[in-house]
Amino acid sequence: MMNVIIRPIEKSDAEACGKIGYLAHRTISSAHGYPSEQPSEEFGIDLVKRLVGNPNSWGFLAEEKQQGNILGSIFVHKFSPSSIAVIGPLTVHPSAESGGIGRLLMDTALNKAIEQKLERIRLVQSPSHIRSFVLYTKCGFALREPLFLMQRSSNGEGSTTILIPAGSSIVRPIKYQNDISECNELCKKAHGFTREMELRQAKSQGMAILIEHDNIITGYAAGIGIFGHAVAESNEDLIALIANASTSIVGPGFFVPARNYGLIKWLLENGFKIEWPANLMTVGPYQEPLMPFLPSLAY
Ligand SMILES: CC(C)(COP(=O)(O)OP(=O)(O)OC[C@H]1O[C@@H](n2cnc3c(N)ncnc32)[C@H](O)[C@@H]1OP(=O)(O)O)[C@@H](O)C(=O)NCCC(=O)NCCS
Repeated sequence: MMNVIIRPIEKSDAEACGKIGYLAHRTISSAHGYPSEQPSEEFGIDLVKRLVGNPNSWGFLAEEKQQGNILGSIFVHKFSPSSIAVIGPLTVHPSAESGGIGRLLMDTALNKAIEQKLERIRLVQSPSHIRSFVLYTKCGFALREPLFLMQRSSNGEGSTTILIPAGSSIVRPIKYQNDISECNELCKKAHGFTREMELRQAKSQGMAILIEHDNIITGYAAGIGIFGHAVAESNEDLIALIANASTSIVGPGFFVPARNYGLIKWLLENGFKIEWPANLMTVGPYQEPLMPFLPSLAY
């Protein structure tokens, strides 16, 4: 594309990129009647500001060569020590759609991930947006897991059955180094890699919890919420983690794989509702999860 350049995002670009992010999401969510992922302009700007200052993220923008107008932006994130790269948000100004800007930005992000030797590339897509689904598919992303964002329904508030885990099992905060090591093993068993960085972050925020049966850890959650993920050996354990955290769900809800019939059914019967759908899509090596899990907004 002759008149468009791609360059790294600077702090001073945050306002323009954030405004485009808000506008792009508002356009698509209002067309489908879903709440927007970026509820306000301030949210969009703040998100870009935080990502530009994050040592684990790289941001790129597309701008017109002559006029210098910003057309869209994309971010890639690493999740050390695993070879995971997560892409998003990708947003293009509605007036620049159809111009191949999305493709240009996505190619840049994929190249960055490959250059960093991050071979397992992931993103969470909004299924109502056919444009982005087509773009991601053409860039090599396969749909792995349809998701629903779940939240407590306001009229069901308080009706959630707080599940007392059976027998000798307990849900407790993650406190010790040994807890982290054992949770890492569970995650590796489920996904083939650990999510230690996020687990440590959740622990430092006091949001990481685990479930153990006779002193054996059978599940954990790095917080229950949009940025949290969880892995457990059974749906019962996953439910116990959710139920115990249900007064402190972070953000607009938590993602649940739509294929997990038992879990979705329990949630719907226990005061939770579906907020919006999403798709987990991947490029590169992918292991079908071997245990019940909750993904985060990232992957
Ligand atoms: C998603 C988004 C980034 C795409 O940007 P874009 O610049 O329009 O993307 P591109 O033009 O490079 O690619 C879109 C592709 O979809 C194709 N397409 C669009 N609708 C289609 C349909 N119904 N069926 C088949 N192909 C379709 C286009 O033809 C194009 O493919 P081509 O380049 O091979 O012709 C932009 O629409 C956006 O910002 N949306 C709002 C925010 C958002 O949803 N972000 C993604 C969150 S998951």
